[in-house]
Amino acid sequence: MIDLHTHIIPQVDDGSKSLEMSIKMLELEVQNGVEQVMFTPHFMYDSNSEEKKEKIKAQYHLLISNCPELPLKTYLGAEIMYNENLYQRIENGNEVFTLANSKYLLVEFPFHSPHYRIVDKLYMMVTKGYKVILAHPERYLYLTMDDINEIKSCGILVQINTSSLLKDFGKEIYKRAITMMQNGFVDFVASDCHDLSIRKPNLKQVQKLLKKYHISNKIDL
Ligand SMILES: [Fe+2]
Repeated sequence: MIDLHTHIIPQVDDGSKSLEMSIKMLELEVQNGVEQVMFTPHFMYDSNSEEKKEKIKAQYHLLISNCPELPLKTYLGAEIMYNENLYQRIENGNEVFTLANSKYLLVEFPFHSPHYRIVDKLYMMVTKGYKVILAHPERYLYLTMDDINEIKSCGILVQINTSSLLKDFGKEIYKRAITMMQNGFVDFVASDCHDLSIRKPNLKQVQKLLKKYHISNKIDL
């Protein structure tokens, strides 16, 4: 089982605050039955994105070189905030920050309704050969279930958060997450962990739901 969406790399975003915290988060992943962890720090294509990517890489190497022997496979990726720069890069055929250098691309969107149709933006990426994973659409309240159905029918994969299923974001987001599971819209459930308290690695807590809806959290990188 993989935890596909995590903020465990220290001091690169609003996730782990220290190397010690990162190591404890990884230990917690193991306790949750996770065998593979994808590191997905927040990332955006802007004027200093190359600098930020270098920092992420450096902190990633710092973490894995200081990690105790854990029965875990770790990979470097990113959670990319959609913007016009990302769209242009992909449309122009330039490289983007994917999951473990694969064709999988984890993309998030703003929490307020954007002026464009998400499905159109993601579908262009699909046509360019990317296996696009939409991060936590249950949290984008402006997306209806019909919108998510359309997104799915375009071959876009969907990842929802454990915390949505645990009602940490309230009743409405919980209901949306469950409806998405019932409709077969969910490809991955990930912790989107940021810390060791409110947003910690917690995949084990939704194990029954994963089983019920046949979500294996496996990925062929
Ligand atoms: Fe995230």
